[in-house]
Amino acid sequence: MRIRIKPVQFYSSVRFWAVVLPLFWVSAALAQSSDSTAVPNAQLAGKALNARVEALLKQMTLEEKIGQMVQYSAGFATGPVGSKISYDELVAKGAAGSLLNVIGAEQTNHFQHIAMEKSRLHIPLLFGDDVIHGDRTTFPVPLGLAASWDPKMVAGVAHTAAIEARADGIQWVFSPMVDIARDARWGRIVESSGEDPYLGSALARGWVEGYQQGDLSKPDSVAVSVKHFAAYGAAIAGRDYNATDMSDITLRQVYLPPYHAAVDAGAATLMSSFNSINGVPATADPYTLTQILRKEWHFDGFVVSDWGAVAELLNHSIGPDGATVARKALEAGVDMDMEGDLYGTTIAAQVRSGQIPEKVVDEAVRRILRVKFALGLFEHPYAPVTPSSEPSAANRAQARAVAAETIVLLKNDPMEGVGALLPIAKSVRAVALIGPLADSAQDMLGSWGAQGDAKFVISLRQALSERLGDHLLYAPGCGVLSGEDEKILLEGKPAPDDAASIAEAVETAKKADVAILALGESADWMTGEATSRTRLGLPGNQEQLLEAVAATGKPVILVLFTGRPAEIKWAGAHIPAIVEAWFPGMEGGHAVADVLFGEVNPSAKLTVSFPRAVGQEPLYYAQLPTGRPAHGDLSRMPANGPEKYMSRYIDEENSALFPFGWGLSYTRFSYGQPTVSKAEVGLPEVAAGRGPGLTVGVDVRNSGSVAGTEVVQLYLRNTSASVEQPVRELKGFARVTLAPGESKHVEFPLGFDELSFINVESKPVVEPTTYKVWVGGSSLATAETSFIVK
Ligand code: NOJ
Repeated sequence: MRIRIKPVQFYSSVRFWAVVLPLFWVSAALAQSSDSTAVPNAQLAGKALNARVEALLKQMTLEEKIGQMVQYSAGFATGPVGSKISYDELVAKGAAGSLLNVIGAEQTNHFQHIAMEKSRLHIPLLFGDDVIHGDRTTFPVPLGLAASWDPKMVAGVAHTAAIEARADGIQWVFSPMVDIARDARWGRIVESSGEDPYLGSALARGWVEGYQQGDLSKPDSVAVSVKHFAAYGAAIAGRDYNATDMSDITLRQVYLPPYHAAVDAGAATLMSSFNSINGVPATADPYTLTQILRKEWHFDGFVVSDWGAVAELLNHSIGPDGATVARKALEAGVDMDMEGDLYGTTIAAQVRSGQIPEKVVDEAVRRILRVKFALGLFEHPYAPVTPSSEPSAANRAQARAVAAETIVLLKNDPMEGVGALLPIAKSVRAVALIGPLADSAQDMLGSWGAQGDAKFVISLRQALSERLGDHLLYAPGCGVLSGEDEKILLEGKPAPDDAASIAEAVETAKKADVAILALGESADWMTGEATSRTRLGLPGNQEQLLEAVAATGKPVILVLFTGRPAEIKWAGAHIPAIVEAWFPGMEGGHAVADVLFGEVNPSAKLTVSFPRAVGQEPLYYAQLPTGRPAHGDLSRMPANGPEKYMSRYIDEENSALFPFGWGLSYTRFSYGQPTVSKAEVGLPEVAAGRGPGLTVGVDVRNSGSVAGTEVVQLYLRNTSASVEQPVRELKGFARVTLAPGESKHVEFPLGFDELSFINVESKPVVEPTTYKVWVGGSSLATAETSFIVK
């Protein structure tokens, strides 16, 4: 059978064919202007809609205009707590255009009635919330969802979340987070799609399409807020909110593509980020917010600041007072001030004194009103009050199937005399389930659990006891970080003595045929916002617990529940079977059990590199080359020999313990020799607008004995370019399901989007060169071919 992979790239879109981008010849290179004239979201540019916006704008006082640009958290806090004010009063005055963290039809309708009935112009409020990986139905955390490499499935998750959010009175979600994350120390890596811009862009499109359904006015769609613009994931040293500093080439080639993909997919809003970029705070950065977003990408929606980020510009020290920094944010392109009062208190006076032209305010208000009109809020301001808030059976089934698709089988080496431990053999009778994450419903929800409720969560213990009844033995072994958790973390104090409970766990393991260790992080306070870590090992006494149980000689399966790559070097060497389950959501226990018992054959692949040691961070596969590449492994490199002078560590390998793209299956896939449709392709053939210049094809065969799904990955290396290019870059992928013995031919089209890179003039170009090509099941793919661009 032959399958042709649909190009998920730009040139396949309707928008692309409507507007062919201008081409420039730059020396011998083919360059694409990043200044296109396309409209990313036609709905926001509609004539009738804009006529309504203008008519309303004309009636608004300056205060009412600024009111639209103000958003308050009128519910719980998701950041430092601000001042207490009367939101009823504010809304009645038209002094707030949006509220966040107000949940449920009753609550939102309360404020909406005030806006619609008491405010002078009856402009509806827009309700926003952090619906990140589901609303009432909790799906796996985004890093887990990304491991599916399945943008369609992600779109399905977003759609379900949109429906539930609407029922909760929310029309605007602060998702997707598309920040490229290459540093596992950064706690927010859990909210990301991982380290790769190509995959990140495909998933960003999936998120936006799923939430917005191509039509904001549909009752089952919500507006997205793509965040955090820009380059928030590159916080120096992985410390949250820290500065980022990078070349324009890296910004445009690595960090911006997922935001751009989301904008091209029609994203209605973006959220500016807390960090500075090259010394300019992102919340006051005209380069990213105006030059790139508005002028180059033609974004028509609005930009909201992150929580309090306008006021935080004072801490960034880019102005002496609130008025100055508010002006800088507004003029740079931040249209709405989230949970801050600087727009509300300082902009009007600056307009009246002539310091801020009123047209700047008008433009911000236009952008906000456009989204409100497009959402149909003026016609349907209220949320219907729905009776039940429990996730439906259908949604639970979706959550289970989705979660099973996100679980990565990291290792499944045969154990002497036993064979591979996974899937768990039918002959296994007693199973010992051990570890602090085995029965923790709350942790399964992950960070940003939205309206997810632990009482609906199926833990691994519950799922296994449904299957095994009395044959399931259980011992927690230790806490995630038992005792005085914060002190242990912050002051580096030793974890408390868990000797007794570890001893009990060891005895439990001895009674079983196999031990499953459920270890990892606390979802709530070790992953997500403001949870950067300097140590990536298993917290507390978990490593000790693992080693003690392994010392019994019983077969051990390690199931990790983490929001980031963990440092598990000892486990990697000594534990035969390792599974990364992330925080798998409300049906997580069932999904993990489905994989452990082989009802689901795992197909997920890592989208982040697992380090051997935290000192390797930031660690990612698409490294730039060096003049002194270190080949081979450390043991063959004597510290004082000629190999000393290589780009390497003296105490650790360069490579990841488990690399990007890695993930095993219960079957085996074999790859044929990849072929190219043309050994040589001319520059004009890969020009933007011409579609794929060539295709790479490969036969993939299921050579094992059970059906399985492989994520076929294509990597390129540009071997000679005016700007050095990564040693490998993902430029195509496809999920392929194969019965035992079945083969499929997979083709990947390659055109301008895949072959271009950012040159020193910050333009995407294709130059004459030779490309190396690898196709396989991870970033270590070895099946190789090449082609030439002339
Ligand atoms: C701060 C976070 O950075 C952002 O992701 C979130 O959407 C807002 N708070 C609102 O809660």
